[in-house]
Amino acid sequence: MATIAQSNYIWKNGEKIAWEDATTHILSHALHYGTAVFEGIRCYQTDQGSAAFRLIEHMERLQQSAHIIMMDVPYSTAELVEATADLICVNGLKSCYVRPIAYRGYGSIGVNPRPAPVDVAIAVWPWDAYLGAESLQKGIKAGISSWRQRSVNALPGAVKSSASYLNSGLAHMEALDHGYSEAILLNESGMVAEGSGENIFAVRNDLIITPPVSDGVLEGITRSSIIELATYLGFEVRETSLVRTDLYVADEVFFTGSAAEVVPIAEIDGRRIGSGHRGPVTKKLQDSFFDAVAGRIEEFLPWLYRI
Ligand SMILES: Cc1ncc(COP(=O)(O)O)c(C=O)c1O
Repeated sequence: MATIAQSNYIWKNGEKIAWEDATTHILSHALHYGTAVFEGIRCYQTDQGSAAFRLIEHMERLQQSAHIIMMDVPYSTAELVEATADLICVNGLKSCYVRPIAYRGYGSIGVNPRPAPVDVAIAVWPWDAYLGAESLQKGIKAGISSWRQRSVNALPGAVKSSASYLNSGLAHMEALDHGYSEAILLNESGMVAEGSGENIFAVRNDLIITPPVSDGVLEGITRSSIIELATYLGFEVRETSLVRTDLYVADEVFFTGSAAEVVPIAEIDGRRIGSGHRGPVTKKLQDSFFDAVAGRIEEFLPWLYRI
């Protein structure tokens, strides 16, 4: 369960303030109209101290999300990266989750977001495995959602916006109500898109397949890391559209995400996937992912931002 383990300070608009003081006005634009973009990042403990995984790429994606919705973030990527590193230090955290958010704040009401000011905040706190510690080993049960993935010309997957997560939340609640841990959404064309907060991969005869970004999925940073790691390990990876039955008959299926990390899917819609346990390819990729985030693979050290 994702109750928040409070830390001491939050960064807001250039200043570190006490966690309790990081509030926003009830008439903040984002609260009413979904005008916020955010990121989710993990900072891991490594042998050489703490390191935030692909921190720069995450902050660049935040800027891209803001650019698409025509919101000027009044801080550069470098400033946000530095603020994050400083915040992790002052909170005395060795490993944590990082949540930067840029949102339209208090000052105007109505659909037009432009007159509302842009506020930026960063919070850091300890957060365990998103889908449960056991899930990483045993895998989870997932279900295809009756809710469709928001379409690319409505709420584009490329924008990591709070508005998009209404769609994710509907699918996730439905999955939980059906006894699954996570939902898999199909896009408007009926192709497999992603989980409510994860990208998805299927493995068949050692070939690794994931839906292309053009199918409306978030261009996940863990997704791109897994593609690189898989290629490094000698696997062939293809970005190809999948229908739901491709998942049912796959040898292995797994989710990837900064919060979820690499999670095997043992069952989909009541159908066992492969052996019904974490498969060998998923395990290899999971092991290399955790080696990479802990700084144990020389080639991937540039992914780590030392705190
Ligand atoms: C809808 C969705 N897809 C995919 C992902 C995975 O993206 P990343 O690996 O960059 O965290 C996330 C997580 O942020 C997500 O919310």
